[in-house]
Amino acid sequence: MKVLVIGGGGREHAICWKLQQSSHVKEIFCAPGNAGIAEIATCISIAPTDIERLVELAIVQNIDLTVVGMDDALARGIVDAFKAKGLRIFGPTQEAAKLEWSKYFAKEFMLRYNIPTASYACFDERNYALAYAKSKEPPIVVKADGLALGKGVTVAKSYEEAKIAIHDLFDGKFGKSGEKVLIEDFMRGQEVSIFAICDGENAALLVPAQDYKKLNDGDLGPNTGGMGAYAPVPIIKPNLLKKIREKVVEPTLLGMKKEGHPYEGILYCGLMIDEGEEPYVVEFNSRLGDPEAQVVLPLLDEDFFEICWSVTEGDLGKYKEGLHRLDGAALCVVVASHGYPQNYKKGIPIDFTRLNEPVEIVSGKNPQKLESILRAKGIIFHAGTARDDSGRLVSNGGRVLGVTGLADNLLDAQVLAYKLCERIDFEGKYFRKDIGDKGMI
Ligand code: GLY
Repeated sequence: MKVLVIGGGGREHAICWKLQQSSHVKEIFCAPGNAGIAEIATCISIAPTDIERLVELAIVQNIDLTVVGMDDALARGIVDAFKAKGLRIFGPTQEAAKLEWSKYFAKEFMLRYNIPTASYACFDERNYALAYAKSKEPPIVVKADGLALGKGVTVAKSYEEAKIAIHDLFDGKFGKSGEKVLIEDFMRGQEVSIFAICDGENAALLVPAQDYKKLNDGDLGPNTGGMGAYAPVPIIKPNLLKKIREKVVEPTLLGMKKEGHPYEGILYCGLMIDEGEEPYVVEFNSRLGDPEAQVVLPLLDEDFFEICWSVTEGDLGKYKEGLHRLDGAALCVVVASHGYPQNYKKGIPIDFTRLNEPVEIVSGKNPQKLESILRAKGIIFHAGTARDDSGRLVSNGGRVLGVTGLADNLLDAQVLAYKLCERIDFEGKYFRKDIGDKGMI
């Protein structure tokens, strides 16, 4: 089979890496891809939002299955356009993906189907939004209605901060995405990412993951697209996962079907788990998380191509006993460029030479357990990378690499990922030092 993957970040590298392991997959194309993806796929320089050219590419290359990694392409209707030409594609339609591209729609939907979430109000008038924010006790959550590269949410610690966020959105910081502004009650607890693979009726859940959205250690600094992730998340015990399925995933599938837009593809439930172990939806997304994909896919002990194919056949029910996953844990540290998420340089040479030195990860839980050391594995996923004119590997984005450690336990995975991060050299390299700590308390 020939597969086309849409996107060019760390998540898409993880998707290509996992698809490549399928015995069904003969060739992978990726648009646009990156320098790491180019080692396992043919990268085609077409933007994920250039749907017309992607349809053409799929036809010309006789692509058997397209897997969409990116939200933008889904929001612009790539699935509808492919299906209209009889092309097989994995992802939700534009109307189903509205759960991600309109936070207002998602909130109203959750209200209609009694899906637990924070109270909110939505405004298309700046002054009303400001007056409402003033009436609230901080922290005040201010959100853009539309897509904003994961940066459209501000948790304001004062009215003054909320005011700046509201002005930014109405002043067009995120273009049309900020034409409607949501103000939500602040929720306390632990955030987790639950990925439900859905075929419109059935859902199969991937291992729960936790994402680190803030730039700096201790969850400080500005929001980013994600600075690291780990899985599994120890607070998500089987009973809680069952509750999440019953209170969030199943009503969402039923609701979308009832509204005429059955949900196919990945439903990403960004949840807050409160002290009473109750799940509340922070937001829905319509694709895998980045960098969560870089931990949940390495832990998936199934053929990902077969799963995607089953979705397109409406046949996911065969996984109703659950998806197999590897024992152990995975942890991904995002290595970013100095200045991210604001201004950063591109074109900085990346040196992997020191990765060739053997890595010892015997400082984990079972230092004497040879088996544990043998099973540990490091995977370097590329996010913002390219080759320059002379073929040198260079940075090409703010998030440059996702360094995943896969091991018998979270501590070993953390030790391994950080040892690898230290051995990657490029000017302005930056990464958080506390990824995974929350999973070890
Ligand atoms: N890790 C957050 C996201 O993918 O939106």
